[in-house]
Amino acid sequence: MRKEIAAANWKMNITYPQAEALIDDILQQGHYLNSHRLVIFGVPFPYLKMAQDKIRFEDNYHIAAQNMHHERNGAFTGEISAEMLHAIGVEYVIIGHSERRIPFNETNEIIAKKIDLALEYEIKPIFCCGEPLEVRDEGKQNEFVQKQIEESLFHLSPSQFHGFVIAYEPIWAIGTGKTATDEQAQEMHAFIRTLIAEKYGQDIANSVSILYGGSIKSSNAKSIFSMHDVDGGLVGGASLIAADFGVVIDSLKKDPEV
Ligand code: 13P
Repeated sequence: MRKEIAAANWKMNITYPQAEALIDDILQQGHYLNSHRLVIFGVPFPYLKMAQDKIRFEDNYHIAAQNMHHERNGAFTGEISAEMLHAIGVEYVIIGHSERRIPFNETNEIIAKKIDLALEYEIKPIFCCGEPLEVRDEGKQNEFVQKQIEESLFHLSPSQFHGFVIAYEPIWAIGTGKTATDEQAQEMHAFIRTLIAEKYGQDIANSVSILYGGSIKSSNAKSIFSMHDVDGGLVGGASLIAADFGVVIDSLKKDPEV
């Protein structure tokens, strides 16, 4: 059975006290979670320890960093390494977000290096992919996402791919209020799962959680998460409001089919 995940990506928002209050408020909502239905808070680096301390005694809540550097260590002023995240017990890291790929020139090759380092340090990547609007307008979104996945992930071994987490985030839907339709999300998620099945086999493909990201709100989470190949979401704006993110968490499928 694959995991259904409500993942928050706070990006570069909210202050430390606001972050403390947000986590407290969400924990107090008392969500139904289990080992296949979980919440991940993707928080800014300075909040990682605080966030971890808050969830320490909570089952099925986890913390993610939002980025890490692709080199192991060295003279990279201002950067954070996989080893550093590992040393403080960070479990997940968001890798390849379009807000890193485009402004920071993160290529598929750089992202592949990050994936390898994260896995080496036992940090689970949340690998982001997704096409810009002009590619969608040309109808070339499948080829675009296929290249991102092949070039950054398909060197992994079958055991590394088992239970992997991918987030499909069409760039035109991020922060725009324009969500992909349920059918557009399902179509792409099914395409991604088929790609994985062709490379690694159906069992591994079925074990991969494919999250949707892009203008998820309390009002649309339930219908998009109900699609067969949508295993939850990576949520930006709506994850900053406890009541809204609470609804998103409760919109996860209760009993995943596989
Ligand atoms: P929004 O939910 O604000 O559109 O952001 C999505 C996203 O980029 C999550 O990583």
